[in-house]
Amino acid sequence: MPRTVHPSPSPAARVLKGGAGALLLGGAALATPQALATEISIACGAGDSSDYCPALAEQWAEKTGNTVKVISTPNDATEKLSLYQQLLGSQSSDIDVMLIDIVWPGLLDDHLVDLAEHLPEDATEGFFPALVDNNTIDGRLVAMPWYTDAGVLYYRKDLLEKYGHEVPATWQQLTEIAEDIQDAEREAGNDDFWGFSFQGRAYEGLTCNALEWVASHGGGTLVDDQGEVTIDNPRAADALDLAASWIGTISPEGALNHTEEETRGIFQSGNALFLRNWPYVWSLANGEGSEVAGKVGMAPLPHGPEGESKATLGGWNVAVSRYSEHPELAADLAAYITAKPQQKAHAVKMGRNPTIESLYQDEEVLASNPSMNDLYETLTNGVPRPASVTGDAYARVSNAFFNHTHQVLSGDLDGASAVQQLGRELERLGRRGW
Ligand code: GLC
Repeated sequence: MPRTVHPSPSPAARVLKGGAGALLLGGAALATPQALATEISIACGAGDSSDYCPALAEQWAEKTGNTVKVISTPNDATEKLSLYQQLLGSQSSDIDVMLIDIVWPGLLDDHLVDLAEHLPEDATEGFFPALVDNNTIDGRLVAMPWYTDAGVLYYRKDLLEKYGHEVPATWQQLTEIAEDIQDAEREAGNDDFWGFSFQGRAYEGLTCNALEWVASHGGGTLVDDQGEVTIDNPRAADALDLAASWIGTISPEGALNHTEEETRGIFQSGNALFLRNWPYVWSLANGEGSEVAGKVGMAPLPHGPEGESKATLGGWNVAVSRYSEHPELAADLAAYITAKPQQKAHAVKMGRNPTIESLYQDEEVLASNPSMNDLYETLTNGVPRPASVTGDAYARVSNAFFNHTHQVLSGDLDGASAVQQLGRELERLGRRGW
């Protein structure tokens, strides 16, 4: 049964939430408390230092007199999705509010509430319209956009300078510079040094990396806007073959099992020249305890011989489960996390890119992270994964892509065979329309 909800209880009622039982036994005066706080459970990120969600949820609890239970979920986006699908599939009310990836609205919409029914009419005003559209499925607003992401290249400024190299514009240049500086650094005694760190585990992050390789070679986006499968082409094959050549040469074998945080660890401890990651790394790599603080540069990702730089678009949104017993309060928490002041703090403190357009003119936000300013174009011209067009088949499309790519990286398949097999599999999946 839902407990009584009181949006802003008196301080006395707030004290009660911790030890109501004891107080009731001991003091007749407090025998009829006005209201008890409601506990809202929220599935945040993985609980690492880049996760600002628990802090914002606590602020909301403090402000409204409710309590929050933060549920930590796997870091790996694919594992997080399976957990959600399991919980939502069993109509569990264990989670009220959840962070969802930009590619999930079409997969999870049946299990999410229409926030428009619970929030004021202007709730999405000022947000990037494309993101609101992305989160609106069959006319239902299933999540509030929280922050946006785009893949970027981090590099060691000091090392490029030391060895007289420029920031690479092409993947070929990146490969050559990485080989050169890796050799030199190893000769100088750092045996653990690698040229390029990226996310190569068989999960959603590899889909993001591989889409950048393929699209920046002019090889398309797997499935185009019309739903046509486009992956079986020689440029896509070349892109995958080039990436496979990095494993064991400029990238560790371990890359085959790396997600974002492992690769940040390698770069931040001074053991990589280049890193492909998201904008959140900037403030951490330059923060306290980082071996590379002050030595880091950030640039658009390289491109292939016939393409241009492409950054996969990412980002996270806040949704409310249809099985929540407190949808009204849960929607209020979702709106609080994504509201302008909280987005601003998230940008300034953690370097997360806002989803509210006007924050890109905010001086403090602009000063906090070069991606807000210099890479604005990269962020606004990013390449979306084919999630909207493939709808509820997206998870299968992405799984097929990262699995085939992983086989190429592992040396089990060449690029041309991989894109041919993948093309056939995607055709089968989309045969009756997506
Ligand atoms: C980042 C992106 C998200 C993507 C994930 C893959 O969190 O914001 O969209 O799916 O990385 O690892």
